[in-house]
Amino acid sequence: MMRGRFITFEGGEGVGKSTQARMLATALEALGLEVTLTREPGGTPGAEAIRKLLLGVDGQDWGSSAEALLFAAARSDHVESLIRPALESGRWVVCDRFLDSSLAYQGGGNGIDSADLLELHRIGTGGLLPDRTVLVEVSPEITQSRLIARDNGTTDRIGGRDAAYHARVAAAFARLASAAPARFVRIDGQGAPESVHAEIFSAIAPLVEQRG
Ligand code: TYD
Repeated sequence: MMRGRFITFEGGEGVGKSTQARMLATALEALGLEVTLTREPGGTPGAEAIRKLLLGVDGQDWGSSAEALLFAAARSDHVESLIRPALESGRWVVCDRFLDSSLAYQGGGNGIDSADLLELHRIGTGGLLPDRTVLVEVSPEITQSRLIARDNGTTDRIGGRDAAYHARVAAAFARLASAAPARFVRIDGQGAPESVHAEIFSAIAPLVEQRG
C-alpha cells in the first residue's frame, strides 16, 4: 500500500483557505483518489472538544503557554487517531491549518519560541510534516471586508486579536514559507475562488503524477 499524501492549507483569517481546501479535496477525488478533508483545531472528537476550550465563546482566556499546549494536544490526537492512519491506508489528507499555524500564531503572534513549539510537535506527533503546504495570502484590507461579510463582525477569541497581532502572524507565515521553499506553495488568494483553485491544483498536480 502506497502512503497517501498530506497537504495542508495555511494563512490568516478570511483568506479563503477552507473554500480552497474543499475545492482541492473534490478535485483530487475526481481523479479517483481517496481523500480525507479535515481541519485544525479539531478533526476528531477529542480535538474538537479542545477546540471548544480554545475558541468557544464561553471559554476562558488561556495564557500563551497553556494555549500552545492545548493546540499541540489537539494536534496530537488528530494525527494519531485520524491523519496518520489515513495516510498509512493510502488516503490523501487535506487539512485546513496544521503545525505552521502554531508557529505563526503562538510563535510569531504570542512570542513562544519555535524550537519549543517544534519540540511539542515532536512529542505529540513524532514530528509529522506535510508533503506540501499551500499558504494563501491576501492583503489585510480585503481580509477585513471578507471577515465582516462572513462573521458579521464577530469572530473567535484568536481571530479577534488586534491588527498588530495579525501582522506578526502574516510575517511569520511568510518567513516559514521562505525557509522551506520545497514544502510551501505561496498562492495569491485575491482572485475569484475558481482561479485561485486552478493555481493551487496546478501546484499540487505533480504530486499526483509522481504516484504513477
Ligand atoms: P477557524 O474558525 O478554523 O478559523 P479560520 O477560518 O480563520 O481558519 O479558527 C481557528 C483559529 O485558531 C484561528 O484564529 C487560528 C487559530 N489557530 C492557532 O492560533 N494555532 C493553531 O495551531 C491553529 C491550528 C489555529
